[in-house]
Amino acid sequence: MKPVEVQLIAAARPNFMKVAPLYHALRQESWCQPILVHTGQHYDFNMSDAFFRDLMLPEPDHHLNVGSGTHAQQTGGVMIAYEKICQERRPDWVVVVGDVNSTVACALVGAKLGIPVAHLEAGLRSGDRRMPEEINRLATDAISDVLWTPSEDADRNLLREGVDPARIECVGNIMIDSYEMLRPRIEREELPGKLGLTRQGYVVVTLHRPSNVDDPRQLRELFEALGAIASSRHVVFPMHPRTRHRAREFDLLSLLEGRSDVTLTEPLGYVEFMSLVTGAAAVVTDSGGVQEETTYLGIPCLTLRENTERPVTVTHGTNRLVKPQMLQRAMAELPPRRGDKPPPPLWDGRTAKRVAESLRRRSGRA
Ligand code: UD1
Ligand code: UDP
Repeated sequence: MKPVEVQLIAAARPNFMKVAPLYHALRQESWCQPILVHTGQHYDFNMSDAFFRDLMLPEPDHHLNVGSGTHAQQTGGVMIAYEKICQERRPDWVVVVGDVNSTVACALVGAKLGIPVAHLEAGLRSGDRRMPEEINRLATDAISDVLWTPSEDADRNLLREGVDPARIECVGNIMIDSYEMLRPRIEREELPGKLGLTRQGYVVVTLHRPSNVDDPRQLRELFEALGAIASSRHVVFPMHPRTRHRAREFDLLSLLEGRSDVTLTEPLGYVEFMSLVTGAAAVVTDSGGVQEETTYLGIPCLTLRENTERPVTVTHGTNRLVKPQMLQRAMAELPPRRGDKPPPPLWDGRTAKRVAESLRRRSGRA
């Protein structure tokens, strides 16, 4: 019997950590053939290739080279390029992950061609439609045939929206699979020592949400707040390209550059970044994935956002939502380190196995 062709869509930095464990799990299965599609939404070496290397992914089977643009340009560009591949190959499944523009674009292509679409990390809701990702999540979930959720709150969101329970399966958090897969290398990496930092003597910062970095006043306020916390705790800030471009455009880099208590770096590879995070006193971020990784590791996290689509990270006790003007105070009253607390249910490094099993069952293979 012909193997079931499962196309896995990877596009931007956080996607690679979600696709890799599933790709590796499906490669073990004789009933299926995983095919890797890279849309090219992220393309710099340190936003893409570095992750293929760290996560041991092969060259993609298809590269759409779509690149950056407005939302419509990027979403439309991915749709036009991906439709050609779907028409040629007629895969049995299109699997999309996360909530980026390429996620909704490929889900739309599959759904319109009558190809079953499955969404990994379905059901997350911030309730804030000013976030581009919230629109992507709502639209992707509405048209996907299978909704694999990371946590029970996501199931509840989908049921509240009237989704047929037969489409929903709580499979757990796939990013934890990536962490567990690379844990030995992360523990050996020792990046803090290489940067001359002492364990828990520094704070890691990541920022890239348009609501934080695209507005010059907001970005200035954030950089000033980071400068203020650096005087008491060294700040290490691997800067996302969107943030670096904006900071240059608004002439704000000088607020942090050249200070002995701030280390600005290019975006880091996954193994290096997680090595830095595991040694940090705390993390200050607006990233979705980083809120989850700190929750799993029990590391205090301050999230510079008004809301989160990952409320379990807050109820777990390690994550707090903070406003820029409250950052300094929040740093003085950090959430406790919770290395001893069990992670949320099904954040166990076995999500890829559960997803593979779900796909096999839904493909009618023994
Ligand atoms: C995208 C996702 C966001 C996700 C983030 C992860 C959407 C709408 N946004 O945001 O959900 O959290 O990725 O990092 O899909 N750029 C480079 N090199 C690259 C990639 C981007 O220089 O390799 C610069 C370009 O100037 C580009 C800008 O970053 O215009 C923004 O890139 P884009 O992919 O549109 O959005 P992100 O902010 O990266
Ligand atoms: N990450 C990384 N290097 C960095 C910053 C983040 O490897 O310099 C990883 C991080 O560990 C997590 C993922 O990138 O696995 C999160 O991606 P990002 O913050 O870009 O997107 P989001 O999760 O907000 O969509």
